[in-house]
Amino acid sequence: MMMKKKSAARYYEERRNLPVWVQKEEFLRTFMENQMVMVTGETGSGKTTQIPQFVLETVMDENYPSSDDQWLVGCTQPHRVAAISAARRVAEEMDVKIGEEVGYTVRFEDCSSSRTVLKYLTNDVLLREARADPLLARYKVIILDEVHDRSLATDLLVGILKRTLTSRPDFKLVVMSATLEEYFSGAPLIKEYFSGAPLIKVPSSLHPVEIWYTREPVMDYLESAISKVIQIHMCEPTGDILVFLTGEEEIEQACSRIIRSLGDQVTVVPLYSSLPSAVQHKIFDPTPKSLRKIIVSTNVAETSLSMDGIVYVVDSGFSKQKDYDFHTAVEFWLVSPISQASAYQRAGRAGRTRPGKCFRLYTEQTFNDFPVRETPEIVRSNPVNTVLTLKQLGVNDLKSFEYIDPPSPKMLLRALEDLFHLGAVDDQGNLTNIGLMMSLEEPL
Ligand code: CDP
Ligand code: MG
Repeated sequence: MMMKKKSAARYYEERRNLPVWVQKEEFLRTFMENQMVMVTGETGSGKTTQIPQFVLETVMDENYPSSDDQWLVGCTQPHRVAAISAARRVAEEMDVKIGEEVGYTVRFEDCSSSRTVLKYLTNDVLLREARADPLLARYKVIILDEVHDRSLATDLLVGILKRTLTSRPDFKLVVMSATLEEYFSGAPLIKEYFSGAPLIKVPSSLHPVEIWYTREPVMDYLESAISKVIQIHMCEPTGDILVFLTGEEEIEQACSRIIRSLGDQVTVVPLYSSLPSAVQHKIFDPTPKSLRKIIVSTNVAETSLSMDGIVYVVDSGFSKQKDYDFHTAVEFWLVSPISQASAYQRAGRAGRTRPGKCFRLYTEQTFNDFPVRETPEIVRSNPVNTVLTLKQLGVNDLKSFEYIDPPSPKMLLRALEDLFHLGAVDDQGNLTNIGLMMSLEEPL
């Protein structure tokens, strides 16, 4: 069914009601007066879609110091699905064709052109661009979004961009994150790291969310999630449901089981990173009022993508996390318990438009046993990867790089030795041609 396109005026109305608009003037003033600004606000407050447009308006203003003709504003996202959906949404809001003035670049898909002035891209893509262009000369402004998500790429980018700030006085940086309260994954460290940078806090507009725990530990969270969804659909008043599971296979399985049970009473939408772009638009498609929407997602819906209309959250308590065994030097993805910070974020998704409920498929005791926040990826991933990426970015002195959480010097040294044995660096620690060509990243 084709939905009628919203008019620009209608979008403008919706945009004006987002919490970040209250601070638009304050943001613009701070942005103009400083080389760097930090913005924090709850998921759904309009950071990812609005701030880049505010920046664009300012940069395009004739009073903004101009440099080259060819320039860009870049906004990074940890997840490709978030980069694509933000770009699409902003192109609609600005009433331009996606890939022209507003575009995106994610791995294996470049939807941008020489006319693009606002580009959404994943952290990994920006890191790759930084290899060829260490000062990121094409970018007038970079908006580093979701910095509370401490992936290896985020941590490396933060260091690279700090360097860029010093070398390019014409360059500006905006760092954005879900709240920086002490609960959030390493975020206080980021605040400290950029100490002195002005911080704009978008006030929360979240509604209260009632939390329910199970009385006993559940044996099978997938089974339990499916029955919880069916129970909510049968017993609770209207409102969409968001279910957190861990990966594609599990999500597809849950979706087909829910469809088999509830059939055409509901619309079921899967959401994970490798989802084909063509299916993604379904997440934001308006559904007929009589149908309940059920979104079954990985942790991409935790803070990266926010949807209106969600009133119920089902939290399995698990996510897929990267881990590394220092003895065998093997890196792997493991379904692991989430952190309290994640559980808090997941619950928050139920309160975006009205008071909601979050059903945690674990006991309160289990919650108390969760780590407060996740360990940054840089300290739990193969250091060979970190060292190789840094060398490729032209960082020769590994000790001088400003890490947020530094990996241990012993680990770095061992990684350097490994790279030497692989022929990726020479005996001076410089990258060889093999090293230049090597890529140890796994496909996203
Ligand atoms: O980044 P943040 O979580 O602060 O908010 P956002 O991603 O800019 O989203 C703000 C609002 O825009 C959401 O709550 C949705 O209502 C809407 N939105 C949308 O409808 N479709 C999108 N692709 C992205 C956002
Ligand atoms: Mg966002």
